[in-house]
Amino acid sequence: MDLNKALKASIRDIPDYPKPGIMFRDITTLLGDAKAFRLAVDALVYPYVGTKMDQIAGIEARGFILGGAMAHQLSAGFIPIRKKGKLPYDKVQIAYSLEYGVDEMEMHRDAVKPGQKVILVDDLIATGGTAEAATKLLQQMGADVVAACFVIDLPDLGGRKKIEALGVPVRTLIEYEGH
Ligand code: PRP
Ligand code: MG
Repeated sequence: MDLNKALKASIRDIPDYPKPGIMFRDITTLLGDAKAFRLAVDALVYPYVGTKMDQIAGIEARGFILGGAMAHQLSAGFIPIRKKGKLPYDKVQIAYSLEYGVDEMEMHRDAVKPGQKVILVDDLIATGGTAEAATKLLQQMGADVVAACFVIDLPDLGGRKKIEALGVPVRTLIEYEGH
């Protein structure tokens, strides 16, 4: 089985969640499948093995799980990018758009040093609003964001272009069309 098929087979599709008309791609089944989890993490880190990477920045919450494993594999540090109000120390914030209204994400001010090479990771890119904000936050603090990685891309929602417009290459493992 190829990578695409193996990963898709490990993801659970839940129709009409969290609301009617939405097909929720549940990666808890991928994470709970030892082979699929390793396959996904290996595929995410593959282009960077042997390259010095300083930090992996994971977006709360599923980006933490993937990012922690990637950081270990690449012998890099890990930066949590969290929803508002969760981090204890001096923070930087950025607002981003949700389907209804806006929210904010935060990072510790000293989490990244200028010039550090950082890979951003989340489970999924849809409109790209979440990853765009996280990329901007990292770049504002002087990070060299080498790539943004996702297990799942919903290409019809156009997120990839938003990240590429910031000069950051996007790497995704599987796509679901017709979202
Ligand atoms: C989902 C997903 C990404 C984001 C992608 O998270 O995990 O983080 O949406 O959407 P976008 O590309 O349109 O910004 P969600 O906001 O549902 O929160 P959660 O991860 O805490 O469940
Ligand atoms: Mg999320």
